[in-house]
Amino acid sequence: MELPYVKIPNSANISCHVCGRSNSDCLVHPATPIYPAGVWTPEPTFAKPICGSCFRSQAEETGKRLHEVEPNIPKWVDDQLERIGMATSERKADISQVPKSLLDAVPDVTLKYMLAGVIPKSGVGLAGLAGSGKTSLLAVLVHGLLLQHSYALAPFQELKGIRQIVWMNWPITCDRWRVNGIDAGIEKEIVKAQRAKLLILDDLGRETRRRAASEDAATGHLDAIITERDREQRVTLWSTNLTEQELYERYGTGMIRRLLRKNPIQWLSNSDFHPNAM
Ligand SMILES: Nc1ncnc2c1ncn2[C@@H]1O[C@H](COP(=O)(O)OP(=O)(O)OP(=O)(O)O)[C@@H](O)[C@H]1O
Ligand SMILES: [Mg+2]
Ligand SMILES: [Zn+2]
Repeated sequence: MELPYVKIPNSANISCHVCGRSNSDCLVHPATPIYPAGVWTPEPTFAKPICGSCFRSQAEETGKRLHEVEPNIPKWVDDQLERIGMATSERKADISQVPKSLLDAVPDVTLKYMLAGVIPKSGVGLAGLAGSGKTSLLAVLVHGLLLQHSYALAPFQELKGIRQIVWMNWPITCDRWRVNGIDAGIEKEIVKAQRAKLLILDDLGRETRRRAASEDAATGHLDAIITERDREQRVTLWSTNLTEQELYERYGTGMIRRLLRKNPIQWLSNSDFHPNAM
């Protein structure tokens, strides 16, 4: 997947002290990183903004080793996406195939930060018919975030494994949890989902229903995840085929209200789906 450079919204305008290019056109590090520690924010008095290519040529001239990942950034990102829980087909979703109407359904505060490689401060819930492109849209957003983030950091500092993002296909997670019963592994997964800076919960409501919601362990785990994330103001991206009414009926008013507080629901406009149509 290829992605043009996107400036982080509302970030200060800075220019490379060597070539003068600004961070509207390319990534400019706010200060020349101190080699070899690669400190992201050195003392402001030494701050000399520098772009990736000037930093690279400076390092080459002085014979310094650069922090480049092998074999290449897209491959490194793909490995990370797999590690956080994305399936092969999800990792292959292509941003150029996402219709503009779908991208427009994502609030700017979420979309622009993610495409600039930053975890957004608010999330979104995509609701729409099966096949309307919800999973693919979530996938390209997460893929875009990691790509942009990695390209931005790579010349300056070593890329570290991503631990702040967790991708969960909810029905598959439920099936796995039900097969295994409660064990320490599941508890660890729940804590990871509670603490992730960005959690993707794909396909809420598609899991098979067991008894009443109040007696279903998986629903209880979901409540624990959402409640904790709400308390800590952590951002979640989620999707569902249910209507808002059905979500309330299935999971209870309290949980859905906590989910929606930071991650409002958006109806995908490219389908005929409408909350009141059913
Ligand atoms: N950006 C994309 N890149 C590649 N394929 C796509 C893209 N968007 C949609 N598709 C194709 O359209 C199909 C349906 O999209 P997707 O699975 O994202 O829909 P969905 O809304 O998540 O459906 P469901 O409700 O069944 O989960 C996918 O299987 C995929 O083949
Ligand atoms: Mg889907
Ligand atoms: Zn430069």
